[in-house]
Amino acid sequence: MAAEESRETELMQKIVSLCKRRGFVFQSSEIYGGLRSAYDYGPMGVELKRNLMSEWWRFMVHSREDVVGIDASIIMHPEVWKSSGHLANFSDPLVDCKVCGERFRADKAPKLAEGADAPITLADKGRAKAAHEKLQATVPELRRDGTSLLGAKAGPAGYVCSNCGSPFLSEERRFNLMFRTTLGPVDPIGDIVGMVRAAVAEGADDKELRSRVEAAMAASSVYLRPETAQAMFVQFMNVQQSTGIKVPFGIAQMGKSFRNEVTAEHFIFRSCEFEQMECEYFCPPGEGQKYLEYWKEQRMLWWRGLGIDAENLRFRAHDADELAHYSDGCFDVEYKFPWGWDELEGIASRTDYDLKAHAAGSNKKLTYFDPEATDPATGKQGWHYVPHVVEPAAGATRGVLAVLCDAYAEEAGDADGKGARTVLRLHPRLAPIKAAILPLVKRDGMPEIARKIADQFFAAGINAKYDEQHAIGKRYARHDEVGTPYCLTVDTQTLTDDTVTIRHRDDRRQERIKVQEAVDTVQRALRG
Ligand code: GAP
Repeated sequence: MAAEESRETELMQKIVSLCKRRGFVFQSSEIYGGLRSAYDYGPMGVELKRNLMSEWWRFMVHSREDVVGIDASIIMHPEVWKSSGHLANFSDPLVDCKVCGERFRADKAPKLAEGADAPITLADKGRAKAAHEKLQATVPELRRDGTSLLGAKAGPAGYVCSNCGSPFLSEERRFNLMFRTTLGPVDPIGDIVGMVRAAVAEGADDKELRSRVEAAMAASSVYLRPETAQAMFVQFMNVQQSTGIKVPFGIAQMGKSFRNEVTAEHFIFRSCEFEQMECEYFCPPGEGQKYLEYWKEQRMLWWRGLGIDAENLRFRAHDADELAHYSDGCFDVEYKFPWGWDELEGIASRTDYDLKAHAAGSNKKLTYFDPEATDPATGKQGWHYVPHVVEPAAGATRGVLAVLCDAYAEEAGDADGKGARTVLRLHPRLAPIKAAILPLVKRDGMPEIARKIADQFFAAGINAKYDEQHAIGKRYARHDEVGTPYCLTVDTQTLTDDTVTIRHRDDRRQERIKVQEAVDTVQRALRG
């Protein structure tokens, strides 16, 4: 188990290292020491992420008549988050460990039954000694063995510290995940300082002070959206009326979302700023389960169509106690990441909860009239109803990590290691560079011919790269590592017969094609 774990960690480290070395993903503000859980997509990463998101848009919006797109603002009216329940409920249970100081999510901590042995492991002997001395008075049965403290028992919380295993924990506190900011040019701090002075003079205690500060801030507070979904509910009427689209139909959106995640983990898997690709599919009451099944199938088809190994994808049904109170069914699409199965996308039947909540919050009608349907309540033709919703909600940045993990491969080469390489077997449509145009040497007119070929690719709107730096073998290796599916090499023979070699990334096969066929050949592969 330990060996397997270290192999998985090593694989993640290799992927993270390739991401930096080849310009996929960098730590944000790295020269200033980096910002926790924030990432920048480099020249390769931005292409890969855009390609993935374009594929989603093509599949969800452009290739069907019943889904339309929107691009809403990130900052919405604060009442949106009150109606949606995010202000009251979008929080994680936070706990502090009294031994190592770790702050962690109670719901993600290792579970232990009350009274079970809870061994504590610290980073070094010095820390273990200090913790032992601190706890000895209250837990005399505790004994130290190297970096471990033994003899502690799990308490009634049902979990222990996710870092050191200690059962000595603070009370759980709820921590709202939304990023709060202020809208408008007036800085609320001046007003708050005055208000606090007055409250202190009145003898207000901490609880009272907190609630007054909260109230004063609420007036100017807005939030960065924690999901793209709410705009689709809020704009339901505008979209339906401006397009005349009939239920069942969907509204799709992709873009940035922000969550002040307590446990940012696994590189870009869980970060505070990320991108989502969500669709709210509105259907008549009673048809939620049918469309839940439909979207499950569609969404799995899409992930597989990106070239992800079917063995690494599965559904996980949410248990009844995991379901939100308004949901009557939810499935996660999971990917087998190096650390294990984890969520890529959630597909949920959300009933009519969202439209009803926003109708109540805004005091506006969010209904649909179908003149042809029979109203089940009256038996008459013409039915006014609040549509139900099925929501396929995928992570775009998380999707980038999944396709990187799936595409990453190391090949050993021959007995002497000759021919060993690291290769990203990305689907050609996802690959950042579709074709590398390489003059074999920087003379004899080869660079000029190669540049002309590259221009043909640019004219066709295909992201190709002219590359003359280093020996040809090194250039192939570089392009294998960024997943370029085709390398076209201009060599001596090109000078006489107008042909180039085309090298296929996955099996390194090389064949000769006519220069005039180069763009078509790559274009065909991209369509396939
Ligand atoms: N509107 C429903 C919704 O937002 P979610 O399961 O919270 O549902 C949908 O998010 C998807 O967004 C997840 O399956 C995941 O892929 C992605 N996601 C959520 N939080 C994320 C984070 N902190 N970092 C990266 N991706 C995240």
